[in-house]
Amino acid sequence: MDEALKSIIQEAETKTRELTQRAQFEAVKAEFVGPNGSFTALRKEIGKLPKEQRPEYGKKINGVKESLESILSATLTRIEERELEAKIGPAIDPTLPSPDIQMGSEHPLTQVLNRIVDIFSKVGFTVAAGTEVESEYFCFDALNTPADHPARDMQDTYYINEEASFQNIKQKADERYVLRPHTSSVQIRTMLKEKPPLKILSPGRVFRRDTADATHSANFHQIEGLLVDKNLKVTDLKAILDYFARELLGKDAKVRFRPHFFPYTEPSFEVDFPAAHLGKVGKKWIEIMGCGMVDPTVFEAVGIDPNEYTGYAFGMGIERIAMIVYGVDDIRYFYQNDQRFLEQFSR
Ligand code: DAH
Repeated sequence: MDEALKSIIQEAETKTRELTQRAQFEAVKAEFVGPNGSFTALRKEIGKLPKEQRPEYGKKINGVKESLESILSATLTRIEERELEAKIGPAIDPTLPSPDIQMGSEHPLTQVLNRIVDIFSKVGFTVAAGTEVESEYFCFDALNTPADHPARDMQDTYYINEEASFQNIKQKADERYVLRPHTSSVQIRTMLKEKPPLKILSPGRVFRRDTADATHSANFHQIEGLLVDKNLKVTDLKAILDYFARELLGKDAKVRFRPHFFPYTEPSFEVDFPAAHLGKVGKKWIEIMGCGMVDPTVFEAVGIDPNEYTGYAFGMGIERIAMIVYGVDDIRYFYQNDQRFLEQFSR
């Protein structure tokens, strides 16, 4: 009986070795495990044995059954692979070189944003977060921008449906919500929450009702800066922005301050960077940001004593700087996610 069991395995190996067709396979399989198969017959022998020999025989039968199963399933897999190959051509060749992998990289706006944050972090500024939905009070009133100011016009700012409510954004009273038109609202939120001295930077998205063209987008990015301490002067503001220009553009970079007006700073300036540094011909200066000394009215709105504290603030457009630094002449490229554009900024 043992001999018969052993030879069944050998026989199965021999008979399956050359099989290529499914029908032949089924016939050979039946020769062993079909109702009249040789293995089926041997399995039935167990009933004829005396009781005490049955467990040992059962074990052997199970061993042979496992071997048979693995021989048959390997054969079937081989036949199926041939069938598939006949249908779809040769199987994958793992030795061929793989196609080039496209590596992703940081978006150019993120790269510029991080560079600006790095420059200011080196001199102690920390990042404060703000929300993109804000209330009118924090964007305007507290920043000394009264209700009749043109910036509050429906033409300039996105107002949010009156029914909408935002649990995480506290209003001053029940003024309307807006999509913030600038990051300056973070100045107010920070001064209400923390005591001076303060030294923060706040990057983020802002929204304006602009029609998109080469230099405008309804949604762009700004970085706000605010420093509140005792005895700050305009020269301190100028020093920090000189430092910023030198870090961004090189150590001989110069900065031009032009008097301007913002409701929340007094005096106020617009700051220009030299165009030559930025590869622009025919132009001497390019406007980069607004800034000034925090207006005492703003300090009063947040409960900081303007006789004790002084401050400076600045706000710049990130797209503007990215366009200048990289020589991109249309702001819309930044939002189209065209790989041909983006891959030029991979490092
Ligand atoms: N909020 C201004 C804007 O969006 C930029 C600005 C000007 C920010 C003066 C300031 C500032 O902090 O002091 O155009």
